[in-house]
Amino acid sequence: MDFRHFKYFVAVAEERSFTRAAERLHISQPPLSRQIQQLEDEIGMKLLERDARPLRLTEAGRFFYARAVRLLEQVNETVTMTRRIAQVERRLVIGFVPSTMYGALPRIARLFRAVKPQTELVLVEKLSVEQNEALNAGRIDVGFGRLRLDDPRVKREVLREEPLVLAIPAEHPLAGAATPLSLLAAVPYTLLIYPRSPRPSYADQVLSLFRDKGVEPMTVHEVQEMQTALGLVASGMGVCVVPASAQRLRRDEVVYRPLLESSAVSPIIMCTRLNDQSEDIVLLRSLIDEVYRAQAAEKLLADSPPPPAGAEA
Ligand code: BEZ
Repeated sequence: MDFRHFKYFVAVAEERSFTRAAERLHISQPPLSRQIQQLEDEIGMKLLERDARPLRLTEAGRFFYARAVRLLEQVNETVTMTRRIAQVERRLVIGFVPSTMYGALPRIARLFRAVKPQTELVLVEKLSVEQNEALNAGRIDVGFGRLRLDDPRVKREVLREEPLVLAIPAEHPLAGAATPLSLLAAVPYTLLIYPRSPRPSYADQVLSLFRDKGVEPMTVHEVQEMQTALGLVASGMGVCVVPASAQRLRRDEVVYRPLLESSAVSPIIMCTRLNDQSEDIVLLRSLIDEVYRAQAAEKLLADSPPPPAGAEA
């Protein structure tokens, strides 16, 4: 008895006719009749009342039909699930906190797509706490976040410590100079922090920078997103501590000043499931190094003095 016997019997039982079942199965009728006969011989019971028009199932036939349908469903499900697992392996899902989109993430993602087009790269916005849950649930494979969350199931690597800057409304008294300033200068003004939830978050990192200096900002206003915070800065509502890469945003309405404190940095952390050393994750990690090397070379070039006038090109 093999898989075909089940498939053929289900077709005959559902069509109540050998002719229609043979058409549905794209075979001719004699081999179909032979297979059903073989099946009945092997079971040792009649499954069909052949004299009836349309065909009827015997009691044993009804029982066999119900079991055969379940078995075929299980076989189909097994095939589908196997295909899905294969598919999942060709997908790399990255969770990222929004601020990393202003850093190296777009370049890394572009490079990954170019080097490994056969892997579908999916980017989903998720805060650090959400990334941790999503990694453990298998909804993402990599997280780029900013919080050092301790979870023995997760491998955490600090890729770099990004300097923080103070975003100031263009008309503000602190906006007059471009030189570095202390966090203490921000204390008398409304401090915009984000994200409001879930906590802990980058908002708490910023607040503890002030607390490390023994001060609290005079007024704190919580918003959900960096974009909103910078919009409020542009509206003159307050100041905001943001990663340096955010300086690409709202250049005309917001002035960014570096911070004097060496502690004013925020890590960019790569998280993966412990022991997940899949080919795609190894590749992604090596591409991050490649992008960092390229950025360092570009910066060196941009910072180097122009050749003296009259020098040969
Ligand atoms: C970065 O800006 O350094 C970065 C951002 C996301 C992923 C990896 C690196």
